[in-house]
Amino acid sequence: MRKPMLAGNWKMNMLNHQLAEFFSVLDARVAGGLKNALEKIDILIAMPATLLSNGSDFSSKYGVEVAAQNVHWQESGAYTGEISVAMLKEVGIQATLIGHSERRQYFAETDETVAEKVTACLAQKMKVIACVGETIEEREAEHTEKIIEKQTVAILKAANADPSQLIIAYEPVWAIGTGLAATAEHAQEVHKFIRDLIERELGASTAETMRILYGGSMKPENTAELLAKPDIDGGLIGGASLKPNSFADMINFGLLNS
Ligand code: PGA
Repeated sequence: MRKPMLAGNWKMNMLNHQLAEFFSVLDARVAGGLKNALEKIDILIAMPATLLSNGSDFSSKYGVEVAAQNVHWQESGAYTGEISVAMLKEVGIQATLIGHSERRQYFAETDETVAEKVTACLAQKMKVIACVGETIEEREAEHTEKIIEKQTVAILKAANADPSQLIIAYEPVWAIGTGLAATAEHAQEVHKFIRDLIERELGASTAETMRILYGGSMKPENTAELLAKPDIDGGLIGGASLKPNSFADMINFGLLNS
């Protein structure tokens, strides 16, 4: 059985002084409290770099895992503005997003740089949520499977040595921040396609255990339906994860489903 994961992605939002209030509201609204929920669901929040040190203290207090949103693949050197895996670990961070579509779109990340990052993180035992997803143009041209295959295979090949800490997030770009989530049926279809790719590249037992999250306008209203699908193992949640009440409601749906 795959343990469900609900992961928040705060993007470039939130300030340190807002953390205490956020976690206290979240803890109060989750049925039975966060610690209790964590027995059944993994909860993670990917925060901007400036929150990570404080976030890691809140992680110790509430048990919610705190992740970075990006990392560089080199160990150190002349890479102005970048952060290494060791730097994240120094402030208590053991997980990161990689290859979010906003990084691919605005910061020129490619399948090649995403692969470098996946390899570097997994080699240093850092958990990775690696994102894939097609644009609206690609979808309309009926290229969804081709694009998802290209992006996913690059990630899986990079994770070949030890995929145990890898999670895939399927985030159709047209669904991110638009309010237009994929239907549960469409998401399930693509998740199944990804699971078959995992089996082809890394074998049946890895395909059975690797989690695949859905992301893109996930909110309390569509959480139960998405999580009920057999190959949807959780969510990567942007806007709704910034509101502790909404995020807690989604966790509560996850608890009912688990
Ligand atoms: P959204 O973002 O939930 O606001 O659509 C999801 C994401 O980009 O990870």
